Amino acid sequence: MDDSVRVTVTDGEESEVVRIDGTDGEVDAGGATFRFDVGDVPETEPEETASEESTESTGGDERFVAPVDDVPSGGTLRFEARAGRRRIDGILQRTDEGVLAWENSCPHEPEVQLDRGLGALIDGDQLVCHKHGARFNCDDGYCTRGPCRGRSLKPIDVAVRDGDVILTDDRFESGQRLDA
Ligand code: FES
Repeated sequence: MDDSVRVTVTDGEESEVVRIDGTDGEVDAGGATFRFDVGDVPETEPEETASEESTESTGGDERFVAPVDDVPSGGTLRFEARAGRRRIDGILQRTDEGVLAWENSCPHEPEVQLDRGLGALIDGDQLVCHKHGARFNCDDGYCTRGPCRGRSLKPIDVAVRDGDVILTDDRFESGQRLDA
């Protein structure tokens, strides 16, 4: 079970959606910092199994996300990028040159993920939000049609090295794929 708190902060055009382990934390958006504390919740023991799996599946590299061959050409693969207790949901998407990653958050309604849990739909050279059908260019994340036309998905920096997708975004310390 995931005990994280999901927080969305919107300031005009800018929104930030993060998940945070525990009951308190802070989120930056629009140059402001939102601090929250949802009160006392009994501490839970760390999930040893998850930790062991993490080490085993990454081969020791915490920035490893997934083998590039696991990223479907007609869809996307979900993952999360982590920095301390802060997590951002993301999706990996194949391109002719390799792999791109986006925050899994629709610019129309930032608390809405682009997919229904199994990865977002790719239609030709566009990624489609499941909720209201906004369409985003696969190469630059720009929305060409739908309620958030003119806005863009937020990129997360990744690279392909020796057949593996590696998180290269300095904002994060580690990555973890999220399988359905
Ligand atoms: S929430 Fe994505 S198009 Fe409306």
